[in-house]
Amino acid sequence: MHLHLRDGGMLETVGPLSAETFAGAVIMPNLVPPVDELQKCLAYRERIQAACKSEAFEPFMTLFFRQYSRSELEAAKSHIIGIKLYPDGITTNSEGGVRKIADAEDTIALMEETGIPLLVHGETGDFVMDREERFLEVYDHLARKFPKLRIVMEHITTQGAVKLLDQHANLFATVTLHHLIITLDDVAGGFLRPHLFCKPIAKRPEDREALLQAALSAHPKLSFGSDSAPHPQSKKECCGCAAGVFTAPIALQMLAELFDKHDRLPNLQAFVSDNAVKNYSVRPPAKKVLLTKQPSEVPEAYGDVVPMCAGEQIGWSVEKITD
Ligand code: NCD
Ligand code: ZN
Repeated sequence: MHLHLRDGGMLETVGPLSAETFAGAVIMPNLVPPVDELQKCLAYRERIQAACKSEAFEPFMTLFFRQYSRSELEAAKSHIIGIKLYPDGITTNSEGGVRKIADAEDTIALMEETGIPLLVHGETGDFVMDREERFLEVYDHLARKFPKLRIVMEHITTQGAVKLLDQHANLFATVTLHHLIITLDDVAGGFLRPHLFCKPIAKRPEDREALLQAALSAHPKLSFGSDSAPHPQSKKECCGCAAGVFTAPIALQMLAELFDKHDRLPNLQAFVSDNAVKNYSVRPPAKKVLLTKQPSEVPEAYGDVVPMCAGEQIGWSVEKITD
């Protein structure tokens, strides 16, 4: 869930890498220009399917939040699994997003009526370490005001967000691999590591611990969302580094290693797949991935994209994939 596949040459590179080990993904709409019309969304879906070259991979499409009319929502409903709300300018390619939540509420009310989930990048424009924490009151407000609306707090990074998850029946969340592993120290505590720079920024050890415990226990309202977000090397290793961590081809192996380290391998299936299937109400095609405790090496780069942990060894490998 929660995957950035981009378009054009980048889609050609990262599409097959993501489709190999995953049976489905929620495709983010933050292209330039954004995917904010049904026709654009359907055309993008076709380009994704052509690039991924896999029958056993279902792209679950989303639209970029703007004011939508009832008829637009009704027409889109069977083709999308949600609408992604970005605050204006808060992350990569989010220009044109929402400035004031109050202005978005007419469309949100229609989404509740139509039964279209709201997926949210939950950050305010405050001090960078506080952005998610400050947004929690927005989630709280939306969850109360629209009790029938399914809301997904995408890529949560704080202890506060984990706590909020249990306070509203209509609130769900995803968490990335990198936020289960790193803190701000790994990004900026020593040498600056651009390939770990993302939004929301990695937080404090106690935040990581809360996320990790929720993931390891396969909290039923939490599922894995890689937020794998590729950028060309030249846009990461430069002055003005783009936000986004590329993890799609190594995510399962590293999650297996993490769950094994904490002796929770039996919960991996629920965290990565079963919870996602329930929380987003999706039906991905059947796919079995056999992971084994054999070391594998992360490539230095996939085409022009440097992954997290490039050149490092991980303890687990993908041995076999069957449909
Ligand atoms: C994402 C991207 O590059 O599109 N970047 C990121 O740091 N996570 C956008 C997003 O999900 O915030
Ligand atoms: Zn994202």
